[in-house]
Amino acid sequence: MSKTVSFITENFGKYDPNSIDSYLSIGGFTAVKNALAMSSKEIIEIATKSAVKGRGGAAYDTGRKWSQAASVPGDNKVVICNADEGEPCTFKDRNIIEKDPFRLLEGMIIAGYTVGAQNGYIYLREEYRHLRSLLRNAIQQTMDKGYLGDNIMDSGFSFHIHLYSGAGAYVCGEGSTLIESIEGKSGRPRIKPPFIKEAGLFLLPTLVNNVETLAIAAAVLQNGVDDYIKYGTPDSPGTKIISLAGNVNKPGAYEIPFGLTLREIIYDIGGGIPDGHKLLLFQLGGASGKIGSANILDTPYTYQGLAKEGLVVGSGGVLVVDDRTRVIDFVKSIQDFFIHESCGKCTPCREGNRQIAKIIDRFVEGNQKPDDLHTAERFANIMQNCSFCGLGETAQSAFLTAIKHFPEEFGIQQEVAK
Ligand SMILES: Cc1cc2nc3c(=O)[nH]c(=O)nc-3n(C[C@H](O)[C@H](O)[C@H](O)COP(=O)(O)O)c2cc1C
Ligand code: SF4
Repeated sequence: MSKTVSFITENFGKYDPNSIDSYLSIGGFTAVKNALAMSSKEIIEIATKSAVKGRGGAAYDTGRKWSQAASVPGDNKVVICNADEGEPCTFKDRNIIEKDPFRLLEGMIIAGYTVGAQNGYIYLREEYRHLRSLLRNAIQQTMDKGYLGDNIMDSGFSFHIHLYSGAGAYVCGEGSTLIESIEGKSGRPRIKPPFIKEAGLFLLPTLVNNVETLAIAAAVLQNGVDDYIKYGTPDSPGTKIISLAGNVNKPGAYEIPFGLTLREIIYDIGGGIPDGHKLLLFQLGGASGKIGSANILDTPYTYQGLAKEGLVVGSGGVLVVDDRTRVIDFVKSIQDFFIHESCGKCTPCREGNRQIAKIIDRFVEGNQKPDDLHTAERFANIMQNCSFCGLGETAQSAFLTAIKHFPEEFGIQQEVAK
């Protein structure tokens, strides 16, 4: 029996993403119609009941975020759809945009209506430039049909959507950096406060949501929240699109109910490891996520189950690495990624990534010094606590969790591993 489900992805392959008529023929824009017949408060109650945590990685409660955004005073607000999807091993947002762009627009319109915004911005990563024309076309057709623009469906609510592209920097997925980028500045995060919910894009109150979060909102408004929360577990209701990649037989974006075990994800959905190789490790949530080993494969994929093992859902990436790779080489590649992507604004991240990488290099070559592990852990600790943004706070996750799960790979005696 299939372990995947189709709630968020229910429209995939069912209509032509280039045609609003095709979308309307399968019930498109029912979610917007339903939303416009409700008050903002009612929609926030539904979002709260859905218990959806933001799918961009930070897992902030969506109902709470929308409630806060709605209560910020101001008659000129902004909704941003974060389609930067820069996290390595994460391609679920691309799947939503490619296969169901109109549902994403519905999610943005609903979010705009709920928080009282007049303008929406899609921030699309540069590497998805091939999707620009698809989105432009979807926006134009939605305007032409009167679901976007002034006085949508005679509701008195007006909302416009604008499309922006990044220039290929991972850090621009961070909310305030993304805003700087749209404003034409270089991609570096802003100091907070003021928080972007109060003074974000062009200093207007701004709501930032991930593509998947917005698509879920539209699916929930169309099908009813009870249909959504019947999936999953009591603590982590609903479904999630994971990006399963690496050494599995069937990589891909899959919608799963929360609660499957990691073993079911990797072996039943992913078809196991190719060519008779053994699982070495997996990394959840992209390059900034943590590493786990085969010992914890029976952990349920829920926010709470993963947290017990020190893991996170993050962006929903599930990267599988088999025994053809050395743990230390894998960790080195992650650290190199962060050296490249650090924006350089703050010292802990700019220098810390480099220093940790130098130490990892010595482990790779087998000529590490006796105090190297201790020194690297001190750098990692400083980065976690003193970096200016989430990039520096999480860049050492793979390194630290590799030490925890594979101390012997670092030539470290068992007793130093925590
Ligand atoms: C370095 C960094 C990169 C990020 N990249 C993304 C991204 O590519 N897409 C995304 O949706 N969120 C990303 N985030 C999280 C966003 O800052 C923000 O929390 C999210 O877009 C909010 O939407 P959500 O509540 O729907 O998850 C990133 C955060 C950091 C610190
Ligand atoms: S932690 Fe500091 S250097 Fe690293 S990306 Fe954020 S602001 Fe830039």
